[in-house]
Amino acid sequence: MIIKILEPYPAINRALLTGIVGVNNKFIEYEEDMDPTMIDAVVIRSHVTFNEQMIRTYPNIKYIFRVGVWTDNIDMDLAKRMNVQVLTTPWANTDSVAQLCIWWILSLLRRTYKKFWHIDDRYSFMGQELSWKTIWIVGFGNIGQKLYALINAFGENQFIVYDPFINPKKWTQNNIRFVNDRSVLFQQSDIISFHIPLTPDTKNFLSWKDFSLLRPNVSILNTSRWYIINQDDLIDFLQTHPDSWAFLDTWNSEPDMPDNRLQYLENCIITPHIWAMTYQAHGRMHNFAM
Ligand SMILES: NC(=O)c1ccc[n+]([C@@H]2O[C@H](COP(=O)([O-])OP(=O)(O)OC[C@H]3O[C@@H](n4cnc5c(N)ncnc54)[C@H](O)[C@@H]3O)[C@@H](O)[C@H]2O)c1
Repeated sequence: MIIKILEPYPAINRALLTGIVGVNNKFIEYEEDMDPTMIDAVVIRSHVTFNEQMIRTYPNIKYIFRVGVWTDNIDMDLAKRMNVQVLTTPWANTDSVAQLCIWWILSLLRRTYKKFWHIDDRYSFMGQELSWKTIWIVGFGNIGQKLYALINAFGENQFIVYDPFINPKKWTQNNIRFVNDRSVLFQQSDIISFHIPLTPDTKNFLSWKDFSLLRPNVSILNTSRWYIINQDDLIDFLQTHPDSWAFLDTWNSEPDMPDNRLQYLENCIITPHIWAMTYQAHGRMHNFAM
């Protein structure tokens, strides 16, 4: 089988692929040219879309290895029609994402995100413990559940979960509430963390009418997908609510750089879609996908 990598890959991933594809298979690197009709399979991450155009370019592909969770960049109907098999990597990066959520939540509460300081300003670092907080977890799949387990270890926090596809009866802990009426959640949450896929239902999940309901010092983490939060409305909200914070690992113009307005906001921290960037997650992702 000839496998073409369609997104830029670091050396570690190439090494992993070389080990995994085996002697009977050959992989063609991102930069390498090859007759596209010879390609049997493609490897994609988040920024390349499987659509009619791809089928026209690679008419003979039989497999898509999507290194990551969910298939929002894959036209699944088309894949079915064309008999193209799609393989993804659920679980593989759960720990990496959930652990980084903890890092950012603690960093926010203890104000250690401040890069410049003076010794006389120690008291400006006065922060809070991760206890007695209400954390709203939007999407209670692998990452949402892992985040719950990690924060639970800190004790004394309350959790609200919004995920209509989860059976709440399985969760009997008394610090967790499953709520389907979203409007009550906005007023109650100190921290909101998004762990849902991008679907027609979740696009603009958070937009201007919801922002007006939020607590003035809320912290929002979006490691899910761009467009789940309305970006213009978020910018307006952060500009007018300096005590609120957003941590984004994703933004609307990906893979291009984020909107300048977002980049220069004091109360917004953006990372370049890196929450799954650990050697462990990438190792597991390649093993799963292959
Ligand atoms: N930033 C990164 O590098 C990175 C890494 C891994 C995953 N992700 C993203 O994080 C998200 C969650 O990943 P996961 O591994 O937990 O996936 P998962 O499939 O295990 O969980 C997703 C959960 O969302 C729920 N859901 C689906 N539609 C919903 C809706 N309309 N409202 C509320 N809940 C809904 C599902 O029931 C499921 O429980 C995915 O979108 C994934 O793409 C990002």
